[in-house]
Amino acid sequence: MSKNTITFTNNSTGETYEYNILDASRGPSVVDIRTFFKDTGMFTYDPGYTSTASCESHITFIDGGKGELRYRSFPIEALATNNSYLETCFLLLNSRLPTKDELTDFDLEIRHRAFLHEGLRHLFNALPDNAHPMATLSAAVTALSTFFNDHLDMDHEAEYQEMARRIISKIPTIAAFAYRHSLGIPFIQPDIELSFTENFLTMMRAYPGGKMRLTPNGHESIKDVEIRALDTIFTLHADHEQNASTTVVRNVASTGAHPYVAISSGIAALWGRAHGGANESVIAQLEMIGSVENVEKYIAKAKDPNDPFRLMGFGHRVYKNFDPRAKILKGLQDELKAELDLDSKLMSIAGKIEEIALNDEYFVSRNLYPNIDFYTGIILAALQIPKSMFTPIFVIGRTVGWITQWIEFKQDKTSKIARPRQLYTGD
Ligand code: ACO
Repeated sequence: MSKNTITFTNNSTGETYEYNILDASRGPSVVDIRTFFKDTGMFTYDPGYTSTASCESHITFIDGGKGELRYRSFPIEALATNNSYLETCFLLLNSRLPTKDELTDFDLEIRHRAFLHEGLRHLFNALPDNAHPMATLSAAVTALSTFFNDHLDMDHEAEYQEMARRIISKIPTIAAFAYRHSLGIPFIQPDIELSFTENFLTMMRAYPGGKMRLTPNGHESIKDVEIRALDTIFTLHADHEQNASTTVVRNVASTGAHPYVAISSGIAALWGRAHGGANESVIAQLEMIGSVENVEKYIAKAKDPNDPFRLMGFGHRVYKNFDPRAKILKGLQDELKAELDLDSKLMSIAGKIEEIALNDEYFVSRNLYPNIDFYTGIILAALQIPKSMFTPIFVIGRTVGWITQWIEFKQDKTSKIARPRQLYTGD
């Protein structure tokens, strides 16, 4: 039987080096090169980590070729259809779905922890009104760490879990406050009578006193379909293995910093347009394109190697067939058409882009398909969520993934400080 190893030969010296291949339970195996530098005196070179597994993980699995995504082995399609976001949070944190009683306890605890310390509430006043909510969110989560110094010394599973439930619960409140601060309107406190997702929509939309807009026909209300749509969006964003922001969270964890500072760093990394910020950019780009007639012109710009213009919401480092989250959202978008006021002009521009790109040699040969961000914007806009809050919505969904990955990193006895090396080419 062949050995499960790989041999490298240095062709200039003829020396050979043998490394173990570690088999994954799903997906590609990895070559264990931890002693490569010690053995060869050389580093491996992989900018952007396109061929590097940075850790061992049991949380999320992606098969980019097949367009497959699983949390704790559960396919994303099943979770998005059959389970709520809070059930998904419980699954990520506990490796199994909750029983009915466990879900009730989890839900109640999340509701009761959603308020913020008054001191933290005042932090928002120190920041300018026109701050982007992602900057405010990152600052407020760092500030949250100052209220929970004991989180630096956790070493029991129960303490980790409590810390995780605390941040999951407070993030929607911080996000809604960041938004209301950006408008200069009074904050709406969380309401323990409302579910996670309805509570967030209420903190975003309500008038002082917690009441919805008053019309001649009485108060408006948040529709069930809106809650279900946003809850699904949270579930689809809950984790995504070792993406850019999660890698940042793990790297910050590796230095021993506070978990909420690691989350705050993840928020900063997510803000960029190449990552979570793409959802805001997609709508801005559709608005800029302005009409179906202009689509061809912008497709040509996206294909021009001398033009930095890229189609926002297209392409993915891992998915090379389709993004399963995008497929679910496209289905949701079609379902919502009948019940919500989806922007038909933006939808027809998006539809035209999709139609051309999916058949164009440039996009097909590079495996550039619509990603999750291509579809979220139109749904979020129909939920009356402003563009600047699209990436904070991503943060709300992803917080559970970041904190689960943070816990896994801390509990992994082989974890080391993240400290890559370089190919020095200076003087
Ligand atoms: N529009 C036009 N061309 C593109 C696009 C795009 N959106 N994305 C990639 N390409 C082209 C590149 O120019 C490159 O072409 P070349 O081979 O001729 O040089 C080729 O496709 C490969 O692109 P890379 O940038 O090398 O791919 P990488 O895996 O490093 O980047 C990324 C992936 C960042 C997502 C990229 O596709 C992109 O910028 N997309 C737009 C932003 C976006 O939607 N980001 C959200 C990603 S999902 C998420 O984070 C939630």
